[in-house]
Amino acid sequence: MRKQIAAANWKMNLTLTEGEQLLDQLLSNKYELNENRQVVFAVPAPYLAMAQAKLAGHTNMAIAAQNCYSKKSGAYTGETSVLMLQSLGITHVVLGHSERREYFNESNQLLAEKLNIALEHNITPIFCCGEPLQIREAGTQNAYVAAQLEESLYHLSADQLKQVVIAYEPIWAIGTGKTASSEQAQEMHAYIRAQLTEKYGELVANTITILYGGSVKASNAKELFSQPDVDGGLVGGASLLVDEFKVIIDSLK
Ligand code: PGA
Repeated sequence: MRKQIAAANWKMNLTLTEGEQLLDQLLSNKYELNENRQVVFAVPAPYLAMAQAKLAGHTNMAIAAQNCYSKKSGAYTGETSVLMLQSLGITHVVLGHSERREYFNESNQLLAEKLNIALEHNITPIFCCGEPLQIREAGTQNAYVAAQLEESLYHLSADQLKQVVIAYEPIWAIGTGKTASSEQAQEMHAYIRAQLTEKYGELVANTITILYGGSVKASNAKELFSQPDVDGGLVGGASLLVDEFKVIIDSLK
């Protein structure tokens, strides 16, 4: 079975104390987790060490950075390197979130470099892709997402690709309350898997976890996650609310 993941994306929210309280409350619940049913918290960079420490003793949970730089170290003021993440014991990093693409001009090419450096350091990339509203309205979303995959992922070997988690996040559904229907999500996830099959073969494509992101909440998680090619979610707003995120975790297949 493919790994199913409930991933929280806190974005640029919460003070340190609020973040500590949220994690304490979420971690005080019992979840049925295992190798193939995991939880990831993508927290702001200043809270990585705090969050990593809180996870001690909790298995099948991990902390992710929300970004990293494409270089190992050096004169890059303000950036976070994979070596820094490694030194904190951080195992995951979100790459290519649409907000990074839009506000910080991250291109498919830069993301290819970031994927390389993360994989070289055994950090699991959660690679985000997804189309803006005008592309969806024009009906060209498949070609748009295919180009994102091709330009950022297809230089990877099959063994490298197997380490990558993909998150499909239609931009029109992020933070808008407008979720893709489970049919729309399944359709794109199946398309992504078909593209991966064409490039890497079915055996490899079937192992890749593909998360859905965009207004996932307690009330729609079960329906979305029940789709055959939807392997969990990357959750923004609802991951900041204890009761919401708990239900989302419990909705994993
Ligand atoms: P949202 O954000 O759940 O608030 O729509 C999802 C994301 O951007 O990862």
